[in-house]
Amino acid sequence: MPKSKRQKIVNLTKTSKKGKEGKDELVSLMREACDTFKHCYIFKVNNMRNNYLKDVRNEWNTSRFFFGKNKVMAKAFGNSPEDEYKSNISSLSARLVGNVGLLFTNSEPEAVLEYFNKFEKQDYARAGIKANETVVIPAGPVVRGEDNEKFPHNMESQLRHLGMTTSLVNGVVTNQKPHTICKKGETLSAEQAQLLKHFYYQMAVFKISILSHWCDGKLEILAEDEVNNEDAESILGKLGVLEFDLESYNVDWMKKYKGKSEIVLRPKSVQEVSEVLKYCNSENLAVCPQGGNTGLVGGGVSVFDEIIIQLGRMNEIRSFDEQSGVAVCDAGVILENLDNFVGERGYMCPLDLGAKGTCQIGGNISTNAGGLRLLRYGSLHGTVLGLEVVLADGTVLNNLSMLRKDNTGLDLKQLFIGAEGSLGIVTGVSILTPKKPNSVNVALLAVPNYEFVLENFKLAKSHLGEILSAFEFFDSKSLQLVLKHLNQLRNPLPNTEDSKFYVLLETHGSNFEHDQEKIEMFLEAAMEKEFCSNGSLAQGEGQVRDIWAIREGIPEACGKEGAVYKYDISLPLKSLYSLCEVVEKKLINDKIYLPNDFENSLVKQVLGYGHVGDGNIHLNISAKQYDSRVLNSIEPFVYEFTKKNQGSISAEHGLGVMKGKFISYSKSDEMITVMKNIKNLLDPNGIMNPYKFLV
Ligand code: FAD
Ligand code: MLT
Ligand code: ZN
Repeated sequence: MPKSKRQKIVNLTKTSKKGKEGKDELVSLMREACDTFKHCYIFKVNNMRNNYLKDVRNEWNTSRFFFGKNKVMAKAFGNSPEDEYKSNISSLSARLVGNVGLLFTNSEPEAVLEYFNKFEKQDYARAGIKANETVVIPAGPVVRGEDNEKFPHNMESQLRHLGMTTSLVNGVVTNQKPHTICKKGETLSAEQAQLLKHFYYQMAVFKISILSHWCDGKLEILAEDEVNNEDAESILGKLGVLEFDLESYNVDWMKKYKGKSEIVLRPKSVQEVSEVLKYCNSENLAVCPQGGNTGLVGGGVSVFDEIIIQLGRMNEIRSFDEQSGVAVCDAGVILENLDNFVGERGYMCPLDLGAKGTCQIGGNISTNAGGLRLLRYGSLHGTVLGLEVVLADGTVLNNLSMLRKDNTGLDLKQLFIGAEGSLGIVTGVSILTPKKPNSVNVALLAVPNYEFVLENFKLAKSHLGEILSAFEFFDSKSLQLVLKHLNQLRNPLPNTEDSKFYVLLETHGSNFEHDQEKIEMFLEAAMEKEFCSNGSLAQGEGQVRDIWAIREGIPEACGKEGAVYKYDISLPLKSLYSLCEVVEKKLINDKIYLPNDFENSLVKQVLGYGHVGDGNIHLNISAKQYDSRVLNSIEPFVYEFTKKNQGSISAEHGLGVMKGKFISYSKSDEMITVMKNIKNLLDPNGIMNPYKFLV
């Protein structure tokens, strides 16, 4: 293979530059490659596996590979003889269809074809591939592989979960009756693919097929791409939305949940979403809807290799009515962008949360996110006026109503608010936005104990009732963590180290002097009653932002400290913080948390913060790493405590993969049955976000 000093592999999806800058860079790198290399080949990857592709790239490291958006790559070549970069190279542009890449090299076609014709890697099939043989697991003790290896007993429940009739008989995994994993020619579901892997059946072949070759103005067709074959990749690839660099889609915000999706689709329209779901439903292919991937319960990443449908390209604001404040937009619009858009028109989003720069309105609706001002502006169940949703079979339910009142029949949209992608994909949203307040005041109080946090809340309601827009609290451990990890922030209340708690309260009103007077009176009263040891009223927008940055920075700081076990629990106010105290005690009793022996302690600390105004605490257990000993000490203890105290195991983050199996701590069997019936009605094949939520 010829060697060159100019080695470079470019994958558009890996370039850090986004948007126009990234596209321009790809165009210029491709043109540089046109000038450097003699040959350009179009290739197609069958059964994409990143590790094998990496091997190929390493072996061809003197050549250049490009995986980019077909449209951008075509632009680099030119789309017609008039604008083509090299003689007749626009003929390659026309062949950039579906799941293809480019290889620029100085190697002659014989060498290239010889290498790629031989290069094949057998691997496990994933969902969407057709089975190449029938596989039946007989009744009796379950074995696998050529050596009839016994199945590990701790995997029995997984097999059962995947549809087999196994049980443990004297510690041996035993199949009650023969189980047909798949029939030859059948399209594999995620469960079937998983079972085949457990039984060591490799049915996929990673292969790169060279399709076309361009050299010195001449185009040679070496193989026809089977764009019409009905496998998942080609159908979905025709949408032009396949992505290759999947790491960021497969790992959640906390880096706690990792999926194995090999296909991420980023549709641009409701029609594309409908086409994809219709196809997936007909082929029994499981999907995982994904918004901004800021969810905290593992709902937005796949469990196995479900196809991820990411809504980021559906990011248009469709309309805004300046009279009523109703905004209609695509589900993939980032919350902050929506807030800025309506903000420029004198309105604000009723929902605000620390992840606003990344999360999407469709994700917010699907988790029924609560956020920082629910106390004042209410939940999405009230502010969402209508939704456009694509059901599992591709049916589009269009109910983008802009009406505040509509009593015709069942209010179907409510089903999808908080459904966590289990019933369909939200593609459009109609939401009522309130007027932006003329005056905003923010105060931070240092509070000696939790009882006084509640006293301050009562006092704030009586002094500030109609203008109170947020009442948040955090313990001093949370503050210390923020100051440790977010260097740009400082404590606005220095010398308050003795205070165990801090309260952030905010007012939204219409008259600044009037509001300030009220909040000052509140502060005076709180100080007089010694409900707080110190307090600070933000002067100007900068200080308002700085105080909020501390509260909003807590999740980020927890993430920077290490592994974090997060619980978002609703409880009656009187027992809100005691949750943190009893869990800390339990961890100490179980010798999982050794406060005086940091080296041997699995847990670093236990801290709490949250939305007092909504009766919602965020218990965070910071640990050195994710470890089953820590988890076993916390769960189900934390859920038992919640149930005993009439709380809910999820106040706002949802169930996801984390809490699906614990739903019965908050809902009765009858309610769970009705939920499951609704799920079966709307998604009879169970393709929507399986293994989570209702399990
Ligand atoms: P994702 O994480 O991508 O998905 C979340 C769930 O919704 C998944 O089950 C997914 O399958 C589903 N889903 C996503 N989009 C769609 C769609 N279009 N159609 C159907 N299903 C879909 N949450 C709060 O409630 N309050 C807070 O104050 C809060 N603060 C946060 C602060 C930080 C720093 C972080 C990281 C998270 C915070 N969260 C909070 C959690 C999270 O941001 C919210 O749950 C948010 O609503 C998730 O939106 P997303 O677009 O990131 O969705
Ligand atoms: C918050 O209120 O900050 C969020 O819900 C995120 C979290 O719980 O960490
Ligand atoms: Zn929260």
